[in-house]
Amino acid sequence: MLAGRRDVCFWTRWRVACDIYFTKSVTPRSPTIRTCMKTCGGGPSHRKWIVTWNSQPHLFAPNAPLAWRISNVRRKMSALILRQSKDTDFELFAEMNSDPEVMHYLLPMTRSDSVGAFSRLRNEMTQRGWGVWAVEVDGIFAGMVGLHVPDYPLPFSPCTEVLWRLRKEFWGRGIAHEAAGKAIDYGFSKAGQEEIVSFTTPQNLRSIRLMERLGFERDHQGDFDHPKVPMGHHLRRHVLYRKQKPNKWVEASG
Ligand SMILES: CC(C)(COP(=O)(O)OP(=O)(O)OC[C@H]1O[C@@H](n2cnc3c(N)ncnc32)[C@H](O)[C@@H]1OP(=O)(O)O)[C@@H](O)C(=O)NCCC(=O)NCCS
Repeated sequence: MLAGRRDVCFWTRWRVACDIYFTKSVTPRSPTIRTCMKTCGGGPSHRKWIVTWNSQPHLFAPNAPLAWRISNVRRKMSALILRQSKDTDFELFAEMNSDPEVMHYLLPMTRSDSVGAFSRLRNEMTQRGWGVWAVEVDGIFAGMVGLHVPDYPLPFSPCTEVLWRLRKEFWGRGIAHEAAGKAIDYGFSKAGQEEIVSFTTPQNLRSIRLMERLGFERDHQGDFDHPKVPMGHHLRRHVLYRKQKPNKWVEASG
């Protein structure tokens, strides 16, 4: 059953009996819209419906029928899990790594690179008990998100980084944000991390937006040349973001 707050639709002024209300983000002036935008990471240019359910905002296309939107709130609230990867994930993993859009800011990977990476990530997970998880959404392999300890020297080593890579069809739905949030929480609460870092090329704005939404802060002194990217390559320069263990986990462990 739907439960939670009852409200009036900001935009249509309908009283919504089922505890869902709709807003339209035509302007960031309204506090409701500002809150939704902040949580969703959307900007003032968003022309999408925002549905809030139990204070969780979700964005939908403007003309979607009401029933569809409600059923999608239910669906979207459903199953995102992080789990150890399985053999059956491999084909989709390799397909993701051969998608030029997914790999736009990464070095290209051959199928045999994917074989190596898949088994390395799996071994790390088995050895440590944490690492880079497969993200499963409604039973489908959506990509890989998790924590990784680089095995090559970086100017800020030793460090634990958060990694994310999703299949294109899973972008733009807040899935990376939710999955990475779970991984980061795990890192601070169960895997003993005091700090988690994240880095990417300055051009990878999608990834940078995600870092910022997750509360990472740029270390302006931390820009570096990635040692795995060949000298002179346009993806060699990286920006560094850091997130410290939040107080809630410090208090919980103290
Ligand atoms: C980086 C990457 C994981 C980001 O994925 P993403 O889907 O943009 O990230 P999020 O999960 O934060 O989703 C944000 C989008 O979902 C929308 N969204 C919908 N519902 C949402 C919700 N409930 N909560 C938050 N955002 C939501 C946001 O409005 C935003 O949409 P926009 O793309 O139109 O701005 C993805 O682009 C990717 O896999 N890239 C290729 C690999 C890569 O570059 N990895 C990083 C290497 S360092």
